[in-house]
Amino acid sequence: MSKKRLTIDYEEFASVEGMTAEDRMLVAKALEAQKGSYSPYSHFQVGAALLLADGTVVMGANQENAAYPSGLCAERTALFAAGANYPDVPLECLAIAGSDHGVLCESPASPCGACRQVMAEYQKKFGKPLKIILVGSKRIRKFYQVDDLLPFIFDSLTIE
Ligand code: THU
Repeated sequence: MSKKRLTIDYEEFASVEGMTAEDRMLVAKALEAQKGSYSPYSHFQVGAALLLADGTVVMGANQENAAYPSGLCAERTALFAAGANYPDVPLECLAIAGSDHGVLCESPASPCGACRQVMAEYQKKFGKPLKIILVGSKRIRKFYQVDDLLPFIFDSLTIE
């Protein structure tokens, strides 16, 4: 037996100050996307903004349903919309912002496991890292690839 340790690198910002113009734009789009949230049950509004390699920004927001499992997270609405409408355009970066009863979370909302798995699928599809920005009012975190939020990603072809 040998013990191993996994570490990840990510960036943390106190505000959009210090972020690139492109990242700031995507943060603003994620905040704007929250307006599309349909969340009468949780009152948790999540917006997602997905930047594609050609500069297109696809927005998504969580959609809830009286039959709870029939709803969908913001991240997946954006990822699936991009997959359906721009199937050949690689993904660059996904920004996510979550608010509780209209108040942006101080510490950013983090994507659920199912959304991470879907991110992993599209990252694999295009063979390039999908960056992720998590937006909070006191902290903004930037990750360089899905692997950093989902280590040991399931890949049906990995058998080693
Ligand atoms: N939600 C998202 O949209 N994204 C996440 O990563 C976590 C949770 C939504 C689902 C549900 O509509 C509400 O937030 C409360 O869980």
